[in-house]
Amino acid sequence: MDSQRIFILVKPDGVERGLVGEILGRIEAKGYKLEDLRFMRAKEEVLRVHYAHLADKPFFPEIVRYMTRGPVVAAIFSGANVIEGVRALAGATNPTQAVPGSIRGDLAREWGHGNIENLIHASDSDENAEKEISLWFN
Ligand code: TYD
Repeated sequence: MDSQRIFILVKPDGVERGLVGEILGRIEAKGYKLEDLRFMRAKEEVLRVHYAHLADKPFFPEIVRYMTRGPVVAAIFSGANVIEGVRALAGATNPTQAVPGSIRGDLAREWGHGNIENLIHASDSDENAEKEISLWFN
């Protein structure tokens, strides 16, 4: 397929733990091209749009607290089938279930206080990637 784009975030736990280079490096080392990069604080109103599919879940306030507790790194990568490829690199949502070899499987775990801290967000479709790119990089 032709080149595709994906939006990714290194979440606050990734920045806190000094894993920005490791996470971006794994995506670059796989061969995807870094197209844009921003270090920023996530705004609650942006998270409400970004996580609209989770807005009515009981853990949504925890997600907002987690995602706003420190800075994040937002990036755009491109390449053929980059969405499937980066989601495979990221691993399953729950870091306990994420396979070793993946970012979440190697570098994240459950901390026992309810919400999932899983280091990285990666868009799951072309449509969401383009929406997220305009939302975060407007
Ligand atoms: P989701 O979009 O379902 O997963 P992914 O990030 O793998 O595409 O969920 C978004 C984030 O919400 C997820 O990365 C962590 C958080 N989350 C929880 O804290 N608890 C949950 O039960 C779920 C499903 C998600």
